[in-house]
Amino acid sequence: MSDSKVTPNRERAMSGTIPSMESSHDELGENTIIVVFGASGDLAKKKTFPALFGLYRRRLLPRGVRIVGYARTKMDLAEFHKRIPSYIKNADNEENRALIKEFTGISTYVSGQYDKDESFQELERHLVEIERNYQTKETNRLFYFALPPSVFTPVSQHVKRNNYLRKGINRLIVEKPFGKDLHSSRELMSAIKQDWNEEEIFRIDHYLGKEMVKNILLFRFANIAFSAGWDKHSISNVQISFKEPFGTEGRGGYFDEFGIIRDIIQNHLLQVLTIITMERPVSFSAEDIRDEKVKVLRAIPPVTLEDTLLGQYVGANGKPGYLDDDTVPKGSVCPTFAACTLHINNPRWEGVPFILKAGKALNEAKVEVRIQYRDVTQGIFKDIARNELVIRIQPSEAIYIKINAKTPGFDTRAFPTEMDLTYKRRFTDTTIPEAYEALILDALRGDHSNFVRDDELDSAWKIFTPILHRIDKGSANLEEYPYGSRGPSSLDAFIAARGYKRAPDAYFWPTTSLASL
Ligand code: BG6
Repeated sequence: MSDSKVTPNRERAMSGTIPSMESSHDELGENTIIVVFGASGDLAKKKTFPALFGLYRRRLLPRGVRIVGYARTKMDLAEFHKRIPSYIKNADNEENRALIKEFTGISTYVSGQYDKDESFQELERHLVEIERNYQTKETNRLFYFALPPSVFTPVSQHVKRNNYLRKGINRLIVEKPFGKDLHSSRELMSAIKQDWNEEEIFRIDHYLGKEMVKNILLFRFANIAFSAGWDKHSISNVQISFKEPFGTEGRGGYFDEFGIIRDIIQNHLLQVLTIITMERPVSFSAEDIRDEKVKVLRAIPPVTLEDTLLGQYVGANGKPGYLDDDTVPKGSVCPTFAACTLHINNPRWEGVPFILKAGKALNEAKVEVRIQYRDVTQGIFKDIARNELVIRIQPSEAIYIKINAKTPGFDTRAFPTEMDLTYKRRFTDTTIPEAYEALILDALRGDHSNFVRDDELDSAWKIFTPILHRIDKGSANLEEYPYGSRGPSSLDAFIAARGYKRAPDAYFWPTTSLASL
């Protein structure tokens, strides 16, 4: 295995010889302040601060960077500094302890309201004070909105009025939910766009920062072996699946307003679908990539209820059902599971069903793309398994393709096996960054490739808004499924009706006993 090791140094040495997807952008250099709005909230604790620390630890934040937390919670600097280690994993190990001390040393906190100019003026005084210590006049600000959507618009307006630099670069990172349907998304977008131009806005869909999602473009376009059969002539159906083994558990208030389609499918899974199906971009520049993504999205007609399976989990094995969660409104018709079939009306994909399925409280944690190829011509073979290309996004990143091979030994029968690129076996000592780390770094570098453009968002909402309105009205059928199961019991039939053929029972991954064949 030693040959296959990719050490960070070797990785750097190789980077000149592998095709690079990077291009040059305005990088926020020294003299940058990152302001995190919503600094005491859940997202900031779980994702933003750990990612900022991760980048700091790898020395990837701009030299001289300062981080300013802003939230309504009243606390002094000492209290804020005390909280930071609790946001960070393994804060107690020796190496981290010293780094966390340094990291807290560059972080400060301002408490204020989200709708009062005075609060933002107070923030401004704080920022100017920091900037006074910078050597040059040219300074930059990255504003990170880890905020509930209800305050997006006022905060964006107040920041523009009070904290926007006339000289230097301003950038804004915003998080989903970007509205609840096409109409509210457009309202939100136009409110923000009154003050910020598209170049300054970075809309995060954190799935675009995941290593395996970022890998898809390279995998598709740098491997003729795969790009050659990437169409309706070779591929029968595609499933993009998201499974979580826990329910809403106290987060029901937020979830119930959105449901699984808005929470996962309309954004995370649809983003993966566009990258799987878009045409080859002219270049790997952000706009060329996003132009192709929008084109394919526009070829997808709205999803119908008839082509969708919806479910809601009920209590089982000592675990509570969705409606048992006190934060969920009584009798809620919110789906916690959905499988939506999308079709793409273009010559490459016409007739291929794309099944996007996501569920909470299922039997495992897994996100994967499963591309199932068509049957080989019958005649010399009978009932031979189909090829399947699986891109496992998490856990344990992998790409493997199920193939048929001759049974080893004197036997001449075919048996199903796979060619397998499991990252942790192949790349033994490289670490894969968290999605948020990769995306914050992209935003600092001014690279929009992995962020959602306004017209992309618009097209995404067009696909889902009609069905969402019908579900919200209660006109959809919800199938119950037990907590910890694979989902609604009619799921297998639903997928089979859209062309998916399950592999023979003898197939087990990662090893198969020949005795079982
Ligand atoms: C978020 C959803 O966008 O993604 C959550 O709001 C979900 O409900 C999360 O749990 C999943 O992200 P990840 O990175 O854990 O797959």
